[in-house]
Amino acid sequence: MHVAFIMDGNGRWAQARGLPRHEGHRRGAAVVKKILRVVEKNGIKYATFFAFSSENFSRPESEINFLMNLFEKFLKKYNKTFCEKEVRFRAIGDLSQLPINLQLAIEKLIQNTACFDKFHLTIALNYGARSEVIYAMRNLLKNKNVDVDNLTWEDFEQYLYTKDLPDPDLIIRTSGEQRLSNFLLLQSAYAELYFTKTYWPDFDEKEFLLAIEDYGIRERRMGKINDKTNN
Ligand code: IPE
Ligand code: IPE
Ligand code: MG
Repeated sequence: MHVAFIMDGNGRWAQARGLPRHEGHRRGAAVVKKILRVVEKNGIKYATFFAFSSENFSRPESEINFLMNLFEKFLKKYNKTFCEKEVRFRAIGDLSQLPINLQLAIEKLIQNTACFDKFHLTIALNYGARSEVIYAMRNLLKNKNVDVDNLTWEDFEQYLYTKDLPDPDLIIRTSGEQRLSNFLLLQSAYAELYFTKTYWPDFDEKEFLLAIEDYGIRERRMGKINDKTNN
């Protein structure tokens, strides 16, 4: 199973408490750690976290800098744990625009965990689905061996950032917003969506299990018809 999280509401969580927005982000990072434990406990093999969208670069420089430092610290801090727990780490998005120290921390973690297959943790950083399509198209068009007339989705998806990942089964968005905000638009074609009003810093195991339970009772038809009604 692949669960993806749109971690939203850090700023509002902080504002509601009279705290600066970065306190929400700091608290949000701690929640990722807690949720990863629940992911592991429940045998969920793939977890993806939307941490920074390509559009988030339009935020004030101070907030961007804070977030970039936070990501770097987070990745460095959990390097050892990921190796111990056999977590394979990936990052999706245009990493070339990130600060060099963060790029190096990402690269190191990708290399250190490349041999693992127990859990797959992916962080979306400077990710936007539309930019991803452009990135894919550029590389596809550069490949002279592509048989354009017979191109299939399976061929095309090999050019996406997510080429090694299964499509998400469940996307959870916190903070009450009911939109995808340019996250995995193609990969989520048949994902189940779950929205909660809880701000990401307050998201916890209980809420996560509620989402999993809700997912469990949904009927995923993928365009087909239900076998029981097929008579
Ligand atoms: C999500 O929280 C984290 C990022 C987008 C980096 P926000 O920072 O969007 O928090 P709100 O939506 O303003 O409350
Ligand atoms: C989506 O949240 C991006 C992340 C959670 C990283 P935003 O806060 O950027 O989304 P909008 O602007 O409310 O759509
Ligand atoms: Mg937001």
